[in-house]
Amino acid sequence: MTHFLFCVCQLGAEPAVKAELATLRPELRFAYSRPGLVTFKSPSPVAPDAPLPAVFVRAFGASLGPAEGPAQVFTMLSGTCPEGQPVRLHVWERDVTRPGEEPHGFRYGPRAAEVRAALLAAWPEGQHPLLPGEVAAVGDRVLDVIVAEDEPWWVGHHVHGPGHSPFPGGRIAVDMPPEAPSRAYRKLEEALIWSGAPVRAGDVAVEIGSAPGGASYALLRRGVTVYGIDPALMDPVVLDYRGPADNRFIHLHRPMSMVQRADLPTALHWVLMDVNLAPQVALITARRLAARPRHALHGVLLTLKLDDWRAVRHIPRLLASIGAMGMEEVKATQLPSNRMELFVCGLTRAGRQRLTGP
Ligand SMILES: C[S@@+](CC[C@H](N)C(=O)[O-])C[C@H]1O[C@@H](n2cnc3c(N)ncnc32)[C@H](O)[C@@H]1O
Repeated sequence: MTHFLFCVCQLGAEPAVKAELATLRPELRFAYSRPGLVTFKSPSPVAPDAPLPAVFVRAFGASLGPAEGPAQVFTMLSGTCPEGQPVRLHVWERDVTRPGEEPHGFRYGPRAAEVRAALLAAWPEGQHPLLPGEVAAVGDRVLDVIVAEDEPWWVGHHVHGPGHSPFPGGRIAVDMPPEAPSRAYRKLEEALIWSGAPVRAGDVAVEIGSAPGGASYALLRRGVTVYGIDPALMDPVVLDYRGPADNRFIHLHRPMSMVQRADLPTALHWVLMDVNLAPQVALITARRLAARPRHALHGVLLTLKLDDWRAVRHIPRLLASIGAMGMEEVKATQLPSNRMELFVCGLTRAGRQRLTGP
């Protein structure tokens, strides 16, 4: 049993992780950090299935320490995981820059694939049968190997369950079509995959802060009709879009303060928001548009901008105010593509029923 916990986050978000952990797990002491990786020492052993509801932590688990190669990784694995227990292998790269600042042509994956191949080639199948594929299922024992240029691998393990991403390191793979007007396309696809929000073809959504249109384009491609509120220009690929079921984009070409609930269809299923304004200000409009008539509303999908990491202390209050918009469930995370911001998904009773219903 190890006494260390590892947390992986966006590069630069380490202070936010420390601040969150100081509140959530005050018994932990900061131990070590690298960009995008923070470890903590616990007075008691860290269980691999312990939950950690931290917004800024993308991946976490019991930390086993650095390793120079496969043999050392397998010794660590044998020391923590009973022989014969199947293991899923997650190998991923720590962030190399802040999101969106990667060098031209850079992509995450090749370095991790190389390390994964080296581990698979030497895998002790007799001791720990390897689960095929990378997407974790509830209850899986996951071996975490975090890689970075010119550094030993960092090894940990966890049991997959609520709060853990099924994908290695919480990095959600999204293919962005070349014509997508902005990286918000990726952000919204990540948000839908992470939250599991039941957005369906035929739904009607409003996006506050829709230009140039990456998120709207992602919704349109999913068959949603989108009302976009923004005084800035929308990309023609969005304006000209016609879906197979005739879903389309309608531009309310003005600031959000000049849009009334009556300007939108009575049956509105989703309220999205991605404006570069303080959350307290932006949420006033989201609340207004999510209010009556609310019979059809399934939820809200909101990007909240942060001024700096000290804003972390306001998050519980912001989430409570989103809950008070009629949401039965509210969850938040910093998605891999989020910059100085976080994503919040709130679901109404109707939204939750759609998730669990037929
Ligand atoms: C991060 S961008 C939105 C990106 C967009 N969601 C996409 O998918 O491409 C923020 C947008 O908020 C808009 N915005 C700022 N203040 C606004 C206001 N008062 N009302 C409506 N939109 C506003 C800006 O014009 C800008 O287009």
